Order: sequence, then C-alpha cells, then structure tokens
Amino acid sequence: MEIKLNLGVEAPSLADVVVMGTFCKTETKKSKEVKVATLAGWPKACKDSFLALGVSKDFTGDKGSQVTFDWEGQRVLVVGLGNKSDYDLEAARRTAAGIINGLKISTEKIAIAMDNFIAKGSLENTCAAFTEGLYMAAYEFDKYLSVKKINKTKTIIFDSKAKKSGAKKVQQAIHDAKVVADSINVARDFVNEPPNVLNSETYAKEVLKDVKHIKGVKSVVLGKAELKKHKMGMFLSVNAGSAFQPQLVHLTYTPSKATKNTKHIAFVGKGLTFDTGGYSLKPGASMVNMKFDMAGSATVYGAFRAIAMLGLPVKVSCFLGMTDNAVNSLATLPDSIVTAKNGKTVEILNTDAEGRLVLGDVLTYASEHKPDAIIDAATLTGAVLVALGTEVCGLMGNDKKLLDSLKKAAAHTDEYIWELPIMKEWRDDMKSNIADLKNIGSNRWAGTPKAAAFLENFVGKGIPWAHLDIAGCGEAQAHLPYCPSKGASGLMVRTLVEMVKATK
Ligand code: BES
Ligand code: MG
Ligand code: ZN
Repeated sequence: MEIKLNLGVEAPSLADVVVMGTFCKTETKKSKEVKVATLAGWPKACKDSFLALGVSKDFTGDKGSQVTFDWEGQRVLVVGLGNKSDYDLEAARRTAAGIINGLKISTEKIAIAMDNFIAKGSLENTCAAFTEGLYMAAYEFDKYLSVKKINKTKTIIFDSKAKKSGAKKVQQAIHDAKVVADSINVARDFVNEPPNVLNSETYAKEVLKDVKHIKGVKSVVLGKAELKKHKMGMFLSVNAGSAFQPQLVHLTYTPSKATKNTKHIAFVGKGLTFDTGGYSLKPGASMVNMKFDMAGSATVYGAFRAIAMLGLPVKVSCFLGMTDNAVNSLATLPDSIVTAKNGKTVEILNTDAEGRLVLGDVLTYASEHKPDAIIDAATLTGAVLVALGTEVCGLMGNDKKLLDSLKKAAAHTDEYIWELPIMKEWRDDMKSNIADLKNIGSNRWAGTPKAAAFLENFVGKGIPWAHLDIAGCGEAQAHLPYCPSKGASGLMVRTLVEMVKATK
C-alpha cells in the first residue's frame, strides 16, 4: 500500500473511492435543536448533488458515521467527524483507520480530500496521523489462513489545495510516520507468531535478519555459554527447563554524526516466547495466549528499528532477553536460590514470576554499557490489568525527569500511560529471610509496583530507569480502530520513538 501526496489541487483525484469528511453542528430549527452535517470546504457541485439525495437528510456528520453516494460517476465516501472542537490528531488517526477498515477489502485506489480532515490546523501533522492510522489499521496477521484476507488497497492519494512548495515537509512527515507504522507491524508479527514457530533461537535469528539492512546498527547474540560466563544466574534459571538456548540479543544503533556528547538510551525487553509458569504451572485457561509474553521485547525492538531507520541523532542500545519458561526435569524448582549477575542472591518462590528474573540480569548487563537512561518494557504482571485495565500502560521508575519525558511523549502520541509509585514498604516486602531478595511479594497486593521494586535492584547505580508494564495494553484494543480486534496491539512503540525524538 502506497501513499501519494498531491498538493495544489482543487478537485479530488480520480479514484475508485473519493473520501470526503464533514463535521457535525447543532442548529436550532423551529425551536428544536437538530444536528446537521456542515459539508464545509466541499466543492459546490459535490455538495449540491449530495444535498439533492434523500440519504443526506439522515446523515448528520456524527463521529464515525459513514455514507456513500455517486457524484458524476465517481463513488464518494462521506465520513462524519463529529464536533469540530473535539477533533484532534487522535481523532484523525482513528478516522483514517475507520476509512481503511471500511474499504480495505474492495478498493484499489482511494483519494482522500485531506483539507476536510485537518486537525490542529496542520496538514503535515494530519498527514502523519492519517499515515499511522491507515498502515496500522491495514495490518492483518493472515499467514496461517488458507484463504487470505485480501487487502486490495494499493494506492491512497492525499489531495490538498495547499501550495506545492510545502510538499517536501509533508512528504517527510508521511515517510517518517510510515517507518514507525511499519515497525509497529513488524513488532505485531513477532508477537502473533505461535510458540511452536517462534522460540528464543528462531526469534533471535529473525530479529537479526530484519535488522541486517539498517544503517548504523551492530548486533551481537549471547547464548547459554556467554550467559554462564556473565554469571546471569537468574536468566539461566528461567531457561533451565527449555529445549532452546537462551538468547540475549544486543543491538546498537550509532547515529552517523555521533560525538562524545551524543545521548545514549538503552532499551530492555522481556522476550518470553512462552510462559507456562514453570513448576508453578499456570492453570490451562491462564496459559492460553502466553506466546504474547515476548511483547515487551517486540515493543522495544519495534521502537529501536524505527529510530535507526529514521536516523535519529541519539545512540540507542537494545537488549532483548529471550527464552521460554518451560518444564522438564531440569526446570527450576520453587524454593531454589540463585545468584544474579550483580551478585545478589534470589529465592525463587514462584517460577511464574520469571520475567523479573530475566529482566534483572539483562538490566545489569545493560547498565554495564553506561547508558544515560534505561527503559524496559515487559508483560510483567497480571496485576497491571487489575490496576489499569487493558487500555493503560503501567509506568514506574527511579527518575522523575525520565518518567516525565515518557508521560510527555505518550501525551504527544495519544497513548495511555499512568505512573504507579514504588513505596519503601514494597521494596522491603521483596526481601527474603534466607537470600537477599525473593521473587514474589508476601501477598497479592500491589503486584505491579512490587515487581518494579524487584527490578530496581538490578539497575546500575545512578542510572535513570523506567519500567513499562504492557501486560494490559500489549494486547488487542477494542476501542482503537487502528489496532486489530485480536492479537498484538503494537502500542507504546510510538511513545518510545517520540521520547527518543525529544531527547536532547
Ligand atoms: N507473563 C506473566 C504476566 C501476565 C499475566 C501477562 C497475564 C499477561 C497476562 C508473568 O510472568 C506472570 O506470570 N506473573 C505473575 C506474577 C506472580 C506469580 C507474582 C502474575 O501476574 O500472576
Ligand atoms: Mg509468569
Ligand atoms: Zn511471564
């Protein structure tokens, strides 16, 4: 699917479908309040033919409503945008997704009258939001379906009266948004892949294959022997029952004009290709879908990929801790005590609290590379769903400035994020009587920040760190038309990219 920008035009381009937008306003008619579609900015002839039709009377331009009609042999799709005052870039993104969701089966060429859809007065930002919405909504995971979900849409034209001289900037915004959306879709593909296909070894290989052609990126993979050398006792304990090698994929992107002042951000991701719970086995119903337990790693990888492809002027390292949490006679038994890479001893009271064991060692390893900040993403706790629902990403950490920069980035990308505190009492609760730490708290309360209180022990001294618990928001988002109704959401990739963009 390709987006073409067509500036300096009055009439919409010829296409299988032309898409027009209209706001809705309330008028008083015969002392009654009625809603009407404004049809503002429409070519007069088009407006007249629409108003001459019976269907126009019932169409009020309500948010999300759609109607089609024929105008001079051209099929026109009219999209309602609701109240003008409520229409922002997120509304534009959702509107674009609504267009593709309605048309992707049957339409090869779509022309969109962009001037009808301008949010916040910016053609450039609106085109970027539309590009995100269109590509994110066009995503299908259909590789295992015998009958594919054919998406016929090949070309989308953004028509606008805006001067041709502004084309370069708008074109760049469309290109950048496409890079990010493509990376989101790559991340979604990894998450949706079933666990009999995607294990730590195949996952690491696929990441290396994908990252190979990106300029400025170097990659190293640490296997079991290297993890032993690095004394990653926690990571190895999770892998103990696995048929596959643990893999720590370490990617580094160095911008072309890097100097000694170039900022260095490290991403860390939980890459559990399947979480059975280990000997603390999950009940059958809770185990279903645990292929998604590598979504944290896919999220940070997606962001890393986009950042490198955009050539942003920040050095970014990406550490992906991959293994499954499986059971065999060698799998870690509850009550085991292991030694982490940083020397701390950990009593494993529940083998299902495995993500923090993998992440802990990877956080220590990342810290050794002396980044200016570390951000990890993980499907770490079921408790985050209780606290924040399926829509909101849990945010925790040790540095106000870093947390604020993530909140600001999320506000910019319209993704939901909410900070949870890490209290001293919860840090104390993660201490064990017979080891330095235990891997679960003593009761089920505050499960999400207690996991963060555990992770905090493995972040190098003085390094600002933030933790994203995406166990809720990593999955399907029923309220978002640009996320699939089932499977990986791809949320938080845009926020991480935005946060790095804003890093000075
Ligand atoms: N991968 C799970 C967290 C999870 C649960 C993600 C549900 C998505 C949906 C994690 O490894 C886990 O099992 N956590 C336990 C921790 C507990 C044993 C302290 C949990 O949340 O129950
Ligand atoms: Mg678990
Ligand atoms: Zn897990």
